[in-house]
Amino acid sequence: MNSLLRQTPTFRKMLPPDVDHVILIERTIFLFPWSPVNFSDSINSGYHCQILEQDNTLFGYGVMTINVDEAHILTIGIAAEWQNKGWGKKLLNHFIQLAKQEYAKSMILDVRVSNHGAANLYRQIGFEKIGMRKGYYPAMCGREDAIVMRLIL
Ligand SMILES: CC(C)(COP(=O)(O)OP(=O)(O)OC[C@H]1O[C@@H](n2cnc3c(N)ncnc32)[C@H](O)[C@@H]1OP(=O)(O)O)[C@@H](O)C(=O)NCCC(=O)NCCS
Repeated sequence: MNSLLRQTPTFRKMLPPDVDHVILIERTIFLFPWSPVNFSDSINSGYHCQILEQDNTLFGYGVMTINVDEAHILTIGIAAEWQNKGWGKKLLNHFIQLAKQEYAKSMILDVRVSNHGAANLYRQIGFEKIGMRKGYYPAMCGREDAIVMRLIL
């Protein structure tokens, strides 16, 4: 399609029929992907599940919970061919706006110590390291630590 005719990418709620597409992306960008049930349960539990799409092509997604006044990003992903174009930053900023609308005062997330790209994105937005979770993630050889990061909203 001619790029001039393309719609501007938009955010919307993730719906149950989106899960099949989300999973296709999830399995290409994560070594230890969420299962379809993880996403379906998140939708059914009323978590903030959002997708980014252009011309009905889903290319980004994320899941956030809010407990009292603290938001928690559970996962965030951008399809490989859409990465490094600013969409991850836009998606995270979208969640920040949603969290503020719900009166959250802070946002927490975990990132693998080896995931320098994601950690750079979080630092760029203003997240700061507040702790570590030893052996939090499965890894190819044993377990991997998580850095816990927080943004004051
Ligand atoms: C992490 C992820 C969501 C970032 O989305 P993205 O669209 O690729 O990132 P953006 O283009 O918005 O990048 C914004 C900033 O993040 C940082 N960044 C993103 N990818 C990076 C990389 N591979 N290496 C270094 N810095 C990176 C940079 O600071 C960048 O700013 P700059 O362009 O001014 O240098 C995306 O790469 C992804 O889905 N990765 C696989 C899944 C994943 O790791 N999810 C996060 C789990 S905690």
